[in-house]
Amino acid sequence: MSANVFDLTGKVVVVTGAAGGIGMAVCRQLGGSGATIVLSDVNKSGLESSKSELDSLGIKCGTFVSDTSIESQVVALYQYVVKEFGVPDVLVNNAAQGTHTPPQDTSMEVWNRVIGTSLTGYFLNAREFARVVLPSKKSAAIVNISSIAGSSAIGRGNFAYSTAKGGVNQFTRELAIEWAKSKIRVNAIQPCSVNTPGWRKWVETEGEKGRALMTQLVKGIPMGRVAEPEDIANAVHFLASDAAAMITGTILPVDGGNLAYNAGGTLGEY
Ligand SMILES: NC(=O)c1ccc[n+]([C@@H]2O[C@H](COP(=O)([O-])OP(=O)(O)OC[C@H]3O[C@@H](n4cnc5c(N)ncnc54)[C@H](O)[C@@H]3O)[C@@H](O)[C@H]2O)c1
Repeated sequence: MSANVFDLTGKVVVVTGAAGGIGMAVCRQLGGSGATIVLSDVNKSGLESSKSELDSLGIKCGTFVSDTSIESQVVALYQYVVKEFGVPDVLVNNAAQGTHTPPQDTSMEVWNRVIGTSLTGYFLNAREFARVVLPSKKSAAIVNISSIAGSSAIGRGNFAYSTAKGGVNQFTRELAIEWAKSKIRVNAIQPCSVNTPGWRKWVETEGEKGRALMTQLVKGIPMGRVAEPEDIANAVHFLASDAAAMITGTILPVDGGNLAYNAGGTLGEY
């Protein structure tokens, strides 16, 4: 094991949803630690601007437009990765979509879009990643970005999204066991609300309701703040690196204590 167990020099990392807030923070963090990054997203222009930022930081990277919910596009992504960069070492399953629809109003279109991206997309990427990694017999890591919504219900029409994230958690445990002997570690991260541009925009669009919700959310986080994208990227870095060589099947909350906190609890009072 290298002296710096966090060093990712020579590793090839695939990040889905790389044009988004958390995906881009992950690309910066892992690329800054020496990895070559393959950025994947449905958003072509977003991918291009992410790539120019990484180029300006001197991070080696490539981009590939791929919809995680479409099998042929995910297969094509891994053909591109192997051809251009070789067998990858790390997959960060991050692209997801949500909805704010009450369960009784959830159409098949909404359900299929959310589950298709946020659960089936994770499966397709993990499967195609394993299909190229397993024959190489190298050690590898998958980090699935889940959510605290995968373990605890949050309401407000997040039902399909939460269901997908609950699936991601169990999918993580199953894959960890399936591939433990083959040296592919599989872990997940459960963020609380994260201060991404998309999340800020949503809070602003909701106006007074958004600000009230923000206050309520922060009250549920013992550390008293939402997460920053870098908090999530740091945890991804740890789980992707040799520092986590003995860790697989873990669902790690990065939530300032949110999941540990009982709604009936009090902070700092006796
Ligand atoms: N932001 C938060 O508060 C928060 C909290 C908990 C968990 N998460 C999770 O973190 C991850 C990233 O969230 P974010 O806040 O950065 O989101 P974001 O919306 O900023 O980025 C998501 C990215 O995924 C891409 N994408 C969407 N559907 C896709 C598809 N079918 N194929 C390929 N790409 C697709 C989008 O174009 C976008 O660039 C998600 O898994 C999300 O569920 C976010």
